[in-house]
Amino acid sequence: MNYYEIGTKSTIAKELYDYAFNSQPWFPHYNFNVKPIPPDIIHRDNFFKWLHARYEFMVGIVRLDPYTCYDWHTDTRRGVGINMLLTPFDRSVCVFAPNKEGVVFNIEELKYKPATYYIFNTQIPHTVYNFETTRYLMSVEFAKDKSELSFDDLLKDIKTQYAKIKELPEYELNKSTGEVQKK
Ligand SMILES: [Fe+2]
Repeated sequence: MNYYEIGTKSTIAKELYDYAFNSQPWFPHYNFNVKPIPPDIIHRDNFFKWLHARYEFMVGIVRLDPYTCYDWHTDTRRGVGINMLLTPFDRSVCVFAPNKEGVVFNIEELKYKPATYYIFNTQIPHTVYNFETTRYLMSVEFAKDKSELSFDDLLKDIKTQYAKIKELPEYELNKSTGEVQKK
């Protein structure tokens, strides 16, 4: 599986987009320019509150200039990421190639919806083409690397634990352990 869409919408998408335009500095990071997001913004979102109770991670905005391609790759450190495109109405394309061999191969697109988080399988070859406007993407970097946290690990946790919170009001989050428990 290339990616998985989280069912609950982000409540901080607009705030993150605005943060891209403030005077805070950008840093070079894996061939991108990245601006770290302060934790107090992140913690205004319920999904991130849940995630924070269970994982250590950083969130940044990743910038890609107009008419730029980020070439085919798999991430060197991260086994999994969580992305949200902050400019979904601008023209950019993100595609995966699960079997990238030879000159011609099949591709599968991640069509980012507004204010929507996607768990992103960074170990499947992927590329980004960006067109007329600057592209801003929110991306999560876990403290655990690919040998410690995979796409399947995180997906399982979200489906079994986060899904309970989302769908069943009789469950609640134990704030010290991050486990979902019956009220
Ligand atoms: Fe990547």
